[in-house]
Amino acid sequence: MDQEFSKNLRQWYRKNGRKLPWRSTKEAYNIWLSEIILQQTRVNQGLPYYEKFLENFPSIESLAMASEDQILRLWQGLGYYSRARNLHAAAKQVLRDFNGEFPSDFEKLRSIKGIGDYTASAIASFAFDLPHPVVDGNVYRFLSRFFGMDVPIDSSQGKKAFNELALELMDGRHAAEHNQAMMEIGSLVCKPISPTAMIALSLWLAMH
Ligand code: ADE
Repeated sequence: MDQEFSKNLRQWYRKNGRKLPWRSTKEAYNIWLSEIILQQTRVNQGLPYYEKFLENFPSIESLAMASEDQILRLWQGLGYYSRARNLHAAAKQVLRDFNGEFPSDFEKLRSIKGIGDYTASAIASFAFDLPHPVVDGNVYRFLSRFFGMDVPIDSSQGKKAFNELALELMDGRHAAEHNQAMMEIGSLVCKPISPTAMIALSLWLAMH
């Protein structure tokens, strides 16, 4: 564990991080909902959907009991509709298999429809403060730039290396805040290259 790194990072986050509604709750249902919405959607676009879903379906029971039509109608505009169908299936699964309570165990979370490694880590750490590092696109960008990691993440070797580094950096006593801070620094500071710069770079590479 790198206590100093995590401490500095979290200090930066407390000062500069955005106050987002899913960051001030420990409710696994709310956190899960936000993570599914944010899987392929930017924060600003996802925010009103998060609010709308919680208003219409304040509990996992109400979501499980809704009709697929109702859910798809609320989802309209977000795209990737399989996420909405998985959302519904997952709500029913949690009701049936886990008595309506999200489990706090990583492997059990992972067994729920639509929850992969990233989302299981997000729920385990944000809701239950378990020391599972999140490695999403933002964290990947931050780690590769800050630590000069140049293994590609789309190889199993690369995934392993990034996960190991992320775990090493984590202060397990502050899992939730640490993970939010990692994502936030990747998102606010380590911006992806702009589309214009990407075109210029591709042209330059093609010519050289
Ligand atoms: N994108 C995915 N999860 C997020 C979170 N918890 N905060 C900000 N952006 C996110």
